[in-house]
Amino acid sequence: MDNRPIGVMDSGLGGLSVVRVIQRELPNESVIFVGDEGHFPYGTKPQELIRQLVLKIGRFLETRSVKLMVIACNTATAAALPTVQKKLSIQVIGVINPGATAAIESKAKRIGVIATDSTTKDGAYVRELQKLNPDVKVVSKATQPLVAIVEHGKTGTVEAQKAVDEQLASFVQQPVDALILGCTHFPFLTNEIKQKLGTNVELIDPALETVNQVKKILTEKQLLSSQPASYRLYSTGNRDDLIAGADKWLQGHYDSCNNLMIEGDN
Ligand code: DGL
Repeated sequence: MDNRPIGVMDSGLGGLSVVRVIQRELPNESVIFVGDEGHFPYGTKPQELIRQLVLKIGRFLETRSVKLMVIACNTATAAALPTVQKKLSIQVIGVINPGATAAIESKAKRIGVIATDSTTKDGAYVRELQKLNPDVKVVSKATQPLVAIVEHGKTGTVEAQKAVDEQLASFVQQPVDALILGCTHFPFLTNEIKQKLGTNVELIDPALETVNQVKKILTEKQLLSSQPASYRLYSTGNRDDLIAGADKWLQGHYDSCNNLMIEGDN
């Protein structure tokens, strides 16, 4: 048994799509979540800068004695996972291998991926999917404008539907069997995406397989918690969007949401 929290991070509130699955699947596990709103968005930043930002947050989480870190951000996973794994003393997992694994397990032949500019340019999903199944056809599309729609609380609006309709138009000409929501903000646009693509396209939210991997690691290493969970949220910038996101997507199921000043940052 190990009652230390799990550390989770994202550039913003997208990582709450992973936290909500932790709450559902691992209800005894406490979480410390960092939303890097001070540097949002990651998807348009150079990978070297993203690596530095993720490493700083990882070091903060280490000082909070987390037992495992989840990079709940595809952009950060693509840019920084191996570096952070090398430099931190705790185990670190990302969301891209879980997302790709879930998509391959869906048996879809043509898989679409929507992600940030950075993740798409990096090609991390294409590589991971083809490693798991070289025969799979992958159609990748950067849909960066959808990130801000979610971060700024505009899901469920006419503006959100219009943005989804525009950004996903190419999947009507080039249909896919499954679509990976390759940015942790995107599961919060599920209604709009279904409205555009219909119900025949299976939407893959990497969060579920990510949390399966967390469960497996904690079980194998006998690190599961036996105490009631607590959820502490931190924002490196304006915490208003994170609070609004947690009120909506975690149904207010969190203990605190504070500002975080990371050392070396202005
Ligand atoms: N939520 C993040 C991801 O999964 C990044 C969004 C952004 O900051 O551009 O890629």
